[in-house]
Amino acid sequence: MWVRVLGSAAGGGYPQWNCACPVCHAVRDNSRPARSRTQSSIAVSPDHRQWFLLNASPDVHAQIESFSALRPGGAPDGPGSAPDADDSESRTVPIRAVLLSDAELDHTLGLLLLREGRGLEVHATAAAHDMLCDGTSLLRTLEAYCPVSWVRVVPGRDTPLGDGLSYRAFDVPTTKRPRFESANGNGNGEGRVVGYRLTDVRTGGALVYLPVVQELSAPVHRGLAGCACLLIDGPCWQDDELIRLGASGKTAREMGHLPISGPGGSLEQLSPLPTDRKIYIHINNTNPILLEDAPERRVLEQHGLEVAVDGLELQI
Ligand code: MLT
Ligand code: MN
Ligand code: ZN
Repeated sequence: MWVRVLGSAAGGGYPQWNCACPVCHAVRDNSRPARSRTQSSIAVSPDHRQWFLLNASPDVHAQIESFSALRPGGAPDGPGSAPDADDSESRTVPIRAVLLSDAELDHTLGLLLLREGRGLEVHATAAAHDMLCDGTSLLRTLEAYCPVSWVRVVPGRDTPLGDGLSYRAFDVPTTKRPRFESANGNGNGEGRVVGYRLTDVRTGGALVYLPVVQELSAPVHRGLAGCACLLIDGPCWQDDELIRLGASGKTAREMGHLPISGPGGSLEQLSPLPTDRKIYIHINNTNPILLEDAPERRVLEQHGLEVAVDGLELQI
């Protein structure tokens, strides 16, 4: 399975348009080593020909252009490069479907930017689908432009994905109440956020994509068990990072995200896991791990944790 990190920042990107925090400031004026980042999303493929997007970020247009394998006409520089005869039509792209982890704007606004397509296959739980129809109304708007085929994601169920992959979503419980609560949304929040475990059916190698997680509870740990690579939510270094900066009145946990440092933080919990690659993604612009010379970055390296950057490619 091929994996390409299209974007590695949390909502707002890095730098964020309205933010003058020290971390945003450093990348704008080049005073510290840091790379700007688009909003989080990855592309996966069993063969470098058919691709699946995990979430559709508001930066999807630039992300597609930044990766030749996703452009119309196929992948001239990828393995198995020549496009198929039936792929040669001028508006056919190798993107087969979009899998959604939740209905947050930074993970779904990009769907609207794909409206010129002939149609879109969207995999989402019933809870996320409700939110997109009756909460943000994003799917209703999209359907006015192109047919949308919804594939219902049922956590725990193995589902074939294209020719050579399969996925199993797992529920990621959260206490965060969505801003766009749909009228008929379910009360207990089940399926509001899921992680995806993607498996290459030939090799058995598995990737877990978990861009939102509030707590690494036992069911979430079961979702990760035995995977070769984990791409996981790394929003803030400290739980009260946004409060300290005066950017928000809420902690990371209150916003539905597990901070990296501190007691019970993700670093403490992920360090002992035997997973080959443990990589932070969905990184907020205030997080000092974005600065390559930051002491926090050294701490991660010492614990075997990595920081995703746009364009990172993995083979699993
Ligand atoms: C989140 O990760 O909590 C959301 O993306 C926040 C937002 O987009 O406002
Ligand atoms: Mn987000
Ligand atoms: Zn900032």
